[in-house]
Amino acid sequence: MIFLLACHPEQTAATPKESAVSTPEVAGPALPELLEAEDLDPDPAILHVSLVASAEGENYHYNGQRPGPLLKAPLHSRLLVDFENQLSVDSTIHWHGIAAPEAMDGAVWLSQPVPASGRFSYEIPLGHAGTFWYHPHVDVAQQVDRGLYGAIVVTDPADPWVDQDRVLVFDANGEVTSQDDHGLLDPQNLQWTINGVVDPVMTVEGGQTVRLRLINVSNLAYLDLSFPEIRQIAGDQGLRGLETPDRLILAPGDRAELELRVSESFEVLQTPFVPAGGATTLPASRIFQVQVTSPAEPPAPKPWPDSQPPTSDPSYTDLHIVFTGDGDQWRINGEAWPDITPLQLPLHQASVIEVRNLSSTNHPFHLHGNSFEVLSLNGIPPALQTVEDTVDVPIDGILRIQLTPSNPGDWMLHCHLLEHEDGGMMTVLQIR
Ligand code: C2O
Ligand code: CU
Repeated sequence: MIFLLACHPEQTAATPKESAVSTPEVAGPALPELLEAEDLDPDPAILHVSLVASAEGENYHYNGQRPGPLLKAPLHSRLLVDFENQLSVDSTIHWHGIAAPEAMDGAVWLSQPVPASGRFSYEIPLGHAGTFWYHPHVDVAQQVDRGLYGAIVVTDPADPWVDQDRVLVFDANGEVTSQDDHGLLDPQNLQWTINGVVDPVMTVEGGQTVRLRLINVSNLAYLDLSFPEIRQIAGDQGLRGLETPDRLILAPGDRAELELRVSESFEVLQTPFVPAGGATTLPASRIFQVQVTSPAEPPAPKPWPDSQPPTSDPSYTDLHIVFTGDGDQWRINGEAWPDITPLQLPLHQASVIEVRNLSSTNHPFHLHGNSFEVLSLNGIPPALQTVEDTVDVPIDGILRIQLTPSNPGDWMLHCHLLEHEDGGMMTVLQIR
């Protein structure tokens, strides 16, 4: 399967005795903390913010920031967003991974985009805890690459207490403006930023527990991260029990949460990953560092909720999805957006969807409005129950998922490689 790469901890790890008395060297810029949006409503059950999209030369921003403001609110609160479009082009905001009502989803299917100088007020109940993100759903590749994205964290007060809860937004710079060829772009020339900074340093105290929320907002670039030890506690849709994978691969649009029990300094490596082929044996390079101010024994693990076994595959299929294409022609079931025939599934009924990738690159399958459980990938069920909204389907891959929709509407279903989405690999799933 996948080889575990050596993480060269000897290059950065200070020996505990020495650094307990000296100040360790910090080589590189500090990892910025994401700025939270100002809450205009004193009611703790309402997060009311204003988001203004504007341009500064080639770059776009929400509220002048890249990433846009962090939207952080407790479970079962309401998110109100006054959106103002100061761009000279249409835009919208989509709440990736959140079961928003259809009219608030930001998709341009039944509703109109927000025109230049236009405004729209979004109102979204936050019914599920986890790590999500927001971005436009018009001319997506351009607008996201230019800088329109931000993180959303829905907290659950019942979760174990941690010393620090940090959001890391990963973006590969200049994907649209660089001369890439639709998914084949050279993974060795990518420059990754985390919260806007290249190769940052996160400084923490030894003995602390940090909850890390990772989001890949890049257009086409995959993350293939190696940590000295990864304890994954969540995927796209919140806590799901503990896994300790060798490597963490995040497709564009994907999220993961990690529990970091801090002991000594280490570096996190990124191995180039090609959409047209997957994991590579190309040399890994550092993407960020964790610098420990006073090395200590790792703290005891937190009592994360237990995992559940995955649902067994009922082995019928209600809906077939087939990805085909190359170059500029990306299709689902032979159709290219917007010339599509909507797919249909019934509300509140467990349906099985099979996604086959018959094309020459990987494609992250993404569904709006409702999350789903992964039954298997290439015949192999996940180790634990895995609820997702974005799942990478490798070349020749067969992904089987179970969807029991509770959110009715017309939902976009697409590949989250943004050039593929814009190139036609998008359709609509109607849930009634
Ligand atoms: Cu983040 Cu329709 O997607
Ligand atoms: Cu794709």
